This record gives sequence, C-alpha cells and structure tokens, in this order.
Amino acid sequence: MYTVILNGSPRKNGDTIKLLNMIIPKINGDCKIINTFFLNVSPCIDCRKCHTSDSCSINDNMPAFLEDLKSADNIIISSPLHYSMLSGNLLSFFSRFQYLFVSKNIRKDPNFDMKRKRGYLILTGGGATKDFSPAEKISRLILRELNASLDRVLKYTDTDKFPLKDFDYFEEEKKLFIYNEIEKFTSKINTL
Ligand SMILES: Cc1cc2nc3c(=O)[nH]c(=O)nc-3n(C[C@H](O)[C@H](O)[C@H](O)COP(=O)(O)O)c2cc1C
Repeated sequence: MYTVILNGSPRKNGDTIKLLNMIIPKINGDCKIINTFFLNVSPCIDCRKCHTSDSCSINDNMPAFLEDLKSADNIIISSPLHYSMLSGNLLSFFSRFQYLFVSKNIRKDPNFDMKRKRGYLILTGGGATKDFSPAEKISRLILRELNASLDRVLKYTDTDKFPLKDFDYFEEEKKLFIYNEIEKFTSKINTL
C-alpha cells in the first residue's frame, strides 16, 4: 500500500506536521510526504495549452508529482485551516490538476489512466472561525481529479488552546482523545 500525503502547512514544526508525525508511523506500507509550501511549483495560469496538446506550458516538477500521485493507493490532504479553507499554497498546487481534468474531459485523451484511490483529509485549526466545511467540500472536489473518494476526515480544532508542541504536557484524557481519533483514522486507511 502506497500513501502520498500533501501537506500545506507553512510551519515546519507547526501543529499539522506534529499531528502527521503521530499518524505516519501508524499507516501500513510506504508513505511519502510532499510539503507543498516548500516546492518550486507554480500555479496554473489557464493558458490552455493542455486543451490541444499533451503537455503543460509550465516547466517545473509537477509532471513527476502527478505520476507519483497517480500511482498511490491513498491520498491524504493535510492542512491548517486558513479562513475555513485549505492553505493557499495547497490550492495553488491543486490548480495544476487542471491538466488532469482537461486531459480526461476536454481533450478526451484515450491514454488517460487514473486508478481508483481512497482520499483522506487532516485539518488543524485554532481560530475564531471553527467552520471546517469549506475546506472539506473543496477537498472532495480536488480528490475527484485523482479518482479518489473522501473516506475520512480528522480534525484537530483547538491548536490555539492546546498547541501540539505541548502534547507531552496535556492531561491524560486529552491525550487519549487524540490517540483515539488517530486510531480511528489510521485503521480506516489500513483496511485497504
Ligand atoms: C491566515 C490564517 C487564517 C486562519 N484561519 C483560521 C480559521 O478560519 N479557523 C481556524 O480555526 N483557525 C484559523 N487559523 C489558525 C490555524 O489554522 C491554526 O493555527 C493551525 O493549527 C496552524 O497549523 P500549522 O501550525 O500547521 O500551520 C488561521 C491561521 C492563519 C495564519
């Protein structure tokens, strides 16, 4: 089983990566994390070259990332909540999935091949706006381009009061709650 995690947190030691570090060892098989904030990948400029040709006008590493994503069994989108949405750099990265949409639906490429996958979402938030539904809705849409469903969402909603860097000092009850959420999340992934 191969799982690719697309992490959009700009904080190298932030809450999202702390949560991922607790989750990754519990996922069976191979796991790769792609930190989209630190990539040199440009957003789609809607030049429409891909409407008529099997290539993208932007010359960067995105084709290799797409090949990797295509081969995965599981895709995990992982992001801090920014204004109830996925982080901007993740949305920028995902804009390049337009190439996939166009290949399948506009150019109707007979060689277009996208195996069925399972999709997951991890969100952390700690602001006043506790509405995670816009990020969830858009993740479902994005995963569809990779032929993935959204099978389970893990939300950690109070990083303002309980930042995960302080996990070791949390009360036992809080720790157990988090372990439990992680267990439910990873056992769903591991049922493949
Ligand atoms: C620009 C911005 C917008 C944010 N918007 C929200 C929000 O709408 N709701 C929320 O609960 N937290 C919001 N937050 C707080 C972050 O989601 C929270 O601190 C998160 O856990 C940080 O994760 P990280 O350390 O991995 O970056 C926002 C933070 C930033 C920087």
